[in-house]
Order: sequence, then structure tokens, then C-alpha cells
Amino acid sequence: MTHSSKPVALVTGAGQGIGRGIALQLAQDGFAILVNDVVADPADATKGAYEVKKTIEAAGGEAEVFKADVASAPDRAAMLDFVEERFGRLDLLVNNAGVAPRERRDILEATEESFERLMSINLQGPYFLTQLVANKMIAWKKAGRIETGRIVFITSISAYTSSTGRGEYCVSKAGLAMAATLYADRLAEFDIPVIQIAPGIIETPMTSAVKGKYDKMIAEGLLPTKRWGQPEDIAKAVSAFAQGYLDYSTGAVIEVGGGFGLKRL
Ligand SMILES: NC(=O)c1ccc[n+]([C@@H]2O[C@H](COP(=O)([O-])OP(=O)(O)OC[C@H]3O[C@@H](n4cnc5c(N)ncnc54)[C@H](O)[C@@H]3O)[C@@H](O)[C@H]2O)c1
Repeated sequence: MTHSSKPVALVTGAGQGIGRGIALQLAQDGFAILVNDVVADPADATKGAYEVKKTIEAAGGEAEVFKADVASAPDRAAMLDFVEERFGRLDLLVNNAGVAPRERRDILEATEESFERLMSINLQGPYFLTQLVANKMIAWKKAGRIETGRIVFITSISAYTSSTGRGEYCVSKAGLAMAATLYADRLAEFDIPVIQIAPGIIETPMTSAVKGKYDKMIAEGLLPTKRWGQPEDIAKAVSAFAQGYLDYSTGAVIEVGGGFGLKRL
């Protein structure tokens, strides 16, 4: 088995949107990429995870696809087995995969089914994937296979902003923010930095259903920087972290939201 000589990054939910942008940026930065997504069709390289792999390879980079549901414990374990076998190392984990509620419902009417779905994908999945990866990184670091490991959680401004029409999303992201804090604390003694990046309003398939609503809010002054965020905006922040420029900032929350969080008078 030929292992990669490059540092390796696992990006979850990398078949489209923000994850795709992160995967392409990290490949440009010199990482071999494991493109994870729950949807991945090897017969179709025009979209999804295989399009991302093809695009990376066309630019001279290295990528593999691993279809897995981050909410499934057996899938997570199989993905780490694949990392071990194919790459023999993992230098960066990007916990990006996440979902919005299938329909926005007022908190007075929202269902337990939607709550459970979001908790398992947005919170429990990355929480336990990180546990698996962290233990591997500690071992690989000790064995000299990697110089250091780094872990990033893609949370959201929804971790600290109320949207009563999708409360379960906000709660899942608030929980994920604490997961990032906990891992930053626990992994500091191993020199494994962990940060959270909180995207604002980013133009992706996830937000396409509410495009008109946010177009209007942005035009009316919601954001100091008067435009939608793009996946590349998030990817640049991940890239800075991936290259080690934020190692002493473990535990930090980096909002990438066009100034959304600024307090204004
Ligand atoms: N778009 C925004 O405005 C915005 C803002 C803040 C945070 N975020 C967060 O950024 C992340 C990416 O969002 P996006 O806008 O690119 O979403 P998206 O829906 O466009 O893409 C998400 C990708 O994740 C994959 N995915 C979904 N469930 C999965 C699972 N269980 N296992 C593996 N992969 C899975 C999907 O198939 C899809 O390819 C999410 O965590 C989201 O909550 C997005």
C-alpha cells in the first residue's frame, strides 16, 4: 500500500457547498484530501464528491472519496480504517458535514424527529468522529507519523444567534461549539490545536431555499460587509489554521460572517 507523503485532510460533507470549497483550497495548499460525503456516486463525476475528487486531480492534487454518514458509528469506524490503510496518517480533520431542518418550524411546533435528526448529524456525529480521530492523532504523533494534528469544527453564527423557526439547528450548533471547546481543552497537552469557525450567511445549496429572504436582509443592511459569504471565505480561514498560523489560538471562535457579530449603534 502506497501511503501519501503529503499531509492528509479529512473534510466531512465535502461533496458540495462549504465543504467542497474547503477541500479544493486545502488541496491547493498541498494536502491530500479525503472527500467524505453521505451522498457519493462513482458513476457521476459531474457533481458531488466525485466531482470534487476529479477537480482536485485535474489540478495535480491527490484525493479519495469515502462515502459515509457521520451520524453512523460503523461508518465513522470504517472511514478511519480507510484512512489508516490508504494514507497511514491524518493531519487535519474538518468537521463540516451538517444539515438544516427539512422544514423550518416554529419552536412551539417543531418535532422531536427533526430535533433527533439534527442532533445526531450535527452534534453526535462530529463529537464521536473527533474522539476517534483525536486518539489516532495522539498515537500517530507519538509514533512520528505526523508532526501535529489539527481539528476544526464548522459551527455557525446560529450557535449564539436565536432563530425561532429552526431552534433545533441552533441548539445543535451551540452543542457543537462546546464540543470544540472541550476538545481544545483536552487536546492542548498533546499540542493538537482545535478551533471553531462560525460561518455567517454563506451561498450554498443549503441556503438556496432561503435566498430571497437573505438577499433582502443583506440589501437592507443586516451585514456590515454587504454581500453573501462564499465557500471560499470559509476555506481561507480553514487554510490559515491548516498551515499552522493559528496554533496558539486553540479554543478560538473565528466568525466568518461579514461582520455579522459586530455590535453597532
Ligand atoms: N450555508 C450557510 O449559510 C452556513 C452557515 C453556517 C454554518 N453552516 C454549516 O456549514 C456546513 C456546510 O454547510 P453547507 O451550506 O455547505 O451545506 P450543504 O447542504 O450545501 O452541504 C452539506 C454537505 O454535507 C453532506 N452531508 C449531510 N449530511 C451528512 C452526513 N450525515 N454525513 C456526511 N455528509 C453529510 C451533504 O450531502 C452535503 O454534500 C454545515 O455544517 C452547516 O451547518 C452553513
